[in-house]
Amino acid sequence: MPPVIFLLLSLLLLLLLSSSHAADFCVADLTGRLTPSGYECKKEAAVTTNDFVFTGLGKAGNTSNLIKAAVTPAFVAQFPGVNGLGISAARLDIAPGGVVPLHTHPAATEFLVVTQGTICAGFISTANNVYYKSLNTGDSMLFPQGLLHFQVNGGGTTAVAIVSFSSPSPGLQITSFALFANNLPSALVEKVTFLDDAEVKKLKKLLGGTG
Ligand SMILES: *[C@@H]1O[C@H](CO)[C@@H](O)[C@H](O)[C@H]1NC(C)=O
Repeated sequence: MPPVIFLLLSLLLLLLLSSSHAADFCVADLTGRLTPSGYECKKEAAVTTNDFVFTGLGKAGNTSNLIKAAVTPAFVAQFPGVNGLGISAARLDIAPGGVVPLHTHPAATEFLVVTQGTICAGFISTANNVYYKSLNTGDSMLFPQGLLHFQVNGGGTTAVAIVSFSSPSPGLQITSFALFANNLPSALVEKVTFLDDAEVKKLKKLLGGTG
């Protein structure tokens, strides 16, 4: 290799290596643009310890609702420090008889730890195999990215879990809300679900859908 080419290649390599140094963190500037790779970074001079601290998971969520359950998120929108770090968390409170209905997180795998009570949790693979178990305090379960899953209170007392996600923005889509809580015409809902008209109308009424 001619020395001049070697020199140019070496310089190029040096340039690539020095520019690939990643920042330690990128605390979200929530007023900035949200891109698929996250929010823009807050200026480092404005970053404080509190950007890396979230105090919301110690408080029980309000379970006085249809599903008798509450999700308290510590996603990037609530916890800007997780921006760009491939991680986030949430707290689940499920009252007796409560359920986190069948749902997916399109962008994240979930890791759940039961901290109180009993939760029957499960997921359905793309091969439609079912994996579910009754989890007691201290037990954990994984829900692989994008797969449909659920959590049901398995006892007579309020159950609590802390969950973590492999994304600062896991996303959340609850299947029954997607089907019955909007204005997708009943005839189409019936066609795409094989449910009859009476059942679709009943579920639309229950969940707030129209059409
Ligand atoms: C919980 O939510 C219900 C229904 O929205 C509301 O009536 C109630 O005041 C809330 N309770 C607390 C403690 O915030």
